[in-house]
Amino acid sequence: MALSIAVRRAEITDTPLLVIALPPDSQVPAALTGLDTALAGALDRTLRRKDFRGSRDEALHLSGGASGPQRVLLVGLGKGDRVMALRRAASLAGRRAHGMGVGSLTFFAGALGEREVEQIAIGLQLGCWEYTDLKTQPPEEDRRAPLSSVTILLGDPQLPIADAERAVNAARAIGSGYDIARRASMMPGNLCTPDYLADTAREIGQRHGLEVVVLGRKEMEALNMGSFLCVAQGTTQDPKLIVLRYRGSVETEKPIALVGKGLCFDSGGISIKPAQGMEFMKFDMCGAAGVLGAMEAIAALKLKLNVVGLIGATTNMPSGVAVKPGDVVKAASGKSIEVINTDAEGRLVLADVLTYAKRYEPAAMVDAATLTGAVVIALGHAATGVFGTSPDLVNELLAAGERSAERGWAMPLWEEYQEQIKSDVADLKNTGGRPAGAITAAKFLEAFAEGVPWVHLDIAGTAYSESDLTVIPKGPTGVPVGMFIEFARARAR
Ligand code: BES
Ligand code: MN
Ligand code: ZN
Repeated sequence: MALSIAVRRAEITDTPLLVIALPPDSQVPAALTGLDTALAGALDRTLRRKDFRGSRDEALHLSGGASGPQRVLLVGLGKGDRVMALRRAASLAGRRAHGMGVGSLTFFAGALGEREVEQIAIGLQLGCWEYTDLKTQPPEEDRRAPLSSVTILLGDPQLPIADAERAVNAARAIGSGYDIARRASMMPGNLCTPDYLADTAREIGQRHGLEVVVLGRKEMEALNMGSFLCVAQGTTQDPKLIVLRYRGSVETEKPIALVGKGLCFDSGGISIKPAQGMEFMKFDMCGAAGVLGAMEAIAALKLKLNVVGLIGATTNMPSGVAVKPGDVVKAASGKSIEVINTDAEGRLVLADVLTYAKRYEPAAMVDAATLTGAVVIALGHAATGVFGTSPDLVNELLAAGERSAERGWAMPLWEEYQEQIKSDVADLKNTGGRPAGAITAAKFLEAFAEGVPWVHLDIAGTAYSESDLTVIPKGPTGVPVGMFIEFARARAR
């Protein structure tokens, strides 16, 4: 999508669609009185009658006048933080415009700062995202033009053009990160395989000059990754441990490590899941997709820090040779694990990936995983569960979430929960029963992150949606791409 900035007055803007973002109970902004005249006072009447109130997620489509914009779309900002409201309103506008088939739009929201321009540009890209790869295109005459070009009006007082351009460039990098992540996530399990994730990592690596290393079953056997490999035992697909290294700072500076759960499909294995909704388990690789998206954006932004991205990719399948409940496996760290439930596979994969990540001596390690149904019970779809033993690191991730409209909420990792994952026969067991299921899963990971400042993001409730979310369709939300990127950006400053 072509993104640009402009300083033209709204009423003379020749655009198929002018989007006007307004806070609650607005009057016609001074900058738009000319436009209102061209519309024979329609804007003023609409606002006075309260046909449009400026609430969050509110949108009203008006026809344009004889000159100027051909259509006008009012979008509400609602209450709360203006920057995040603009991002959301831009998403809604992008989605509506994409659906209308107008092809291009101009976005007006009064005077804008750099962060506002950036977040509007991100929002517009997120809003018009669609996964059409597997659909037959309708005949030419029925096709709607995809939203392919947007212009953001800077308003008055005007932000210096250089600042606005920097914002748009950053938004482009971040938007392409989100695109990679959402596309991989939406792709069905038969196409988005561990091999596909590895190929995507190599593509990103080639585009930006990153070092990419991919380990397969053989290499992981040599490293004694019995925990990761027991999950891959029931599939003939080769599991992959994928590593991408971005060097934006001096060699001596310790990297941050971003780790993603990449279950290309999670059937539950021998502890098989019910059929109802099982298709959503293609999304069990959203953590991995988040790592790929973040690495793309971080490299495109040329952030001045070192980052290593790691992905544990496989498929959890039942078979005659699959791992069984009661089996004991040995992780690369040396710890023995009793597999109580083969459906608690994400933590088994991550145990060995976290151990492997330590060889890069990371200053901090952050994993993202669609790890538990329990986190959805605890926090619903409004927040990612944020777990960690370093309060400072936890706070960095929470703040990164606030800046990217990907909210997190801190959860405890108290000693009391350890009891639940003690095994009769091994060092640990892989499930802790129903109570505090998201926490006991995090406690399990903690045993393998030992010694490095670490945060675990349980994104099971936030990475994808089973219903339409107004500003984005059902499917992947892009979480945790934004949180990862904002975390890295803040560290790079
Ligand atoms: N991938 C699932 C978690 C999940 C559930 C993600 C719902 C998204 C939506 C994970 O591998 C899993 O199956 N977890 C089990 C753990 C249990 C067996 C201890 C769960 O949450 O039920
Ligand atoms: Mn599972
Ligand atoms: Zn899973």
